[in-house]
Amino acid sequence: MLDIKITLAETLKEKPADESKLGFGKIFTDHMFVMEYDKDYGGTGWHDARIEPYHPFTLDPSCSVLHYAQEVFEGLKAYRTPDNRIQLFRPECNARRYQDSCDRLCIPQIPEEDFVQAVKALVEVDKDWVPHQEGATLYIRPFTFATMPQLGVHASTKYTFCIILSPSGAYYATGLAPVRIYVEDEYIRAAPGLTGFAKCGGNYAASIKSAEIAEALGYSQVLWLDGVEHKYVEEVGSMNIFFKIDGKIYTAPCTGTVLPGVTRRSIIELCKDWGYEVIEDKLAIDDVMKAGHDGKLEEVFGSGTAAVVSPVKELKYEKDVVMIGDGKIGPLTQKLYDTMTGIQWGKIEDTKGWITPVCMG
Ligand code: COI
Repeated sequence: MLDIKITLAETLKEKPADESKLGFGKIFTDHMFVMEYDKDYGGTGWHDARIEPYHPFTLDPSCSVLHYAQEVFEGLKAYRTPDNRIQLFRPECNARRYQDSCDRLCIPQIPEEDFVQAVKALVEVDKDWVPHQEGATLYIRPFTFATMPQLGVHASTKYTFCIILSPSGAYYATGLAPVRIYVEDEYIRAAPGLTGFAKCGGNYAASIKSAEIAEALGYSQVLWLDGVEHKYVEEVGSMNIFFKIDGKIYTAPCTGTVLPGVTRRSIIELCKDWGYEVIEDKLAIDDVMKAGHDGKLEEVFGSGTAAVVSPVKELKYEKDVVMIGDGKIGPLTQKLYDTMTGIQWGKIEDTKGWITPVCMG
């Protein structure tokens, strides 16, 4: 259990007047959570847990994160219910995944209960920032980075763990409108033994070039193929991906190269509850395109904390293009979106124990 010291900001920022125009991750609240790690510090090495006014960091130009990207992060959200409760969705899953990401990047872990405690404490301090507008949430970004001033390629002995909060709207400016996806056939995101399953900045840095290529061609996301054979579908830029083919639901297995999404696992549970066969196995892009041409590719959607559930209307692979359904959101995608957001916003009863209350709003 952390002993969190709280210092409140003397002047508060102005809150956004129009919550329908928040965008994603553009404005930040009044406070942040910070604690530092020093290898030689007694106990776990973590110390000085505190909530303080939001501020920039001062970093030594030689600190390892700036050179070798020793960094991990998470993403989750706080929701305001119609009866004004503030709640989180499965934060223990993010805390668990954070441990795995830290382990892969040689970053000292934070006990899961401390991670959740820190998130809850910060959200409670900045609870007035949790949006009231339908569809808007308080996005929570925990991250840890290496601060040791040294240019040798070694695990740092010093780190900072921080949480910041950003009132946000839909991840895509187009909201729930179906997106067009470009299948990347040259660059890769992950390969066995690398960091694909970890939520680390390096994975995202390496993806930006493909995203730029896709964008220049008019596509809003990149679909990655496996890094060995360039044959099997894995995930999309900021989401996991699902294909409904001939009544069955397919998604890539989490065997080290795919991010084990919290929304992904929740969707799999819901689909199984609803009687669908969900196949977590390799699926070749050629089979997806063929299903599209044969009229069997019924729905395609991405899933992620930021994006929730995002319908896909078109896939472009090499010279081939398939359109999915009639270009509108499919019935299963819509039902998943309604159920997920219904539970998250407290409009549908949480029979799964997925909700963690924080405080009254
Ligand atoms: C999330 O869904 O929370 C993510 O971390 C995606 C992000 C890179 C925007």
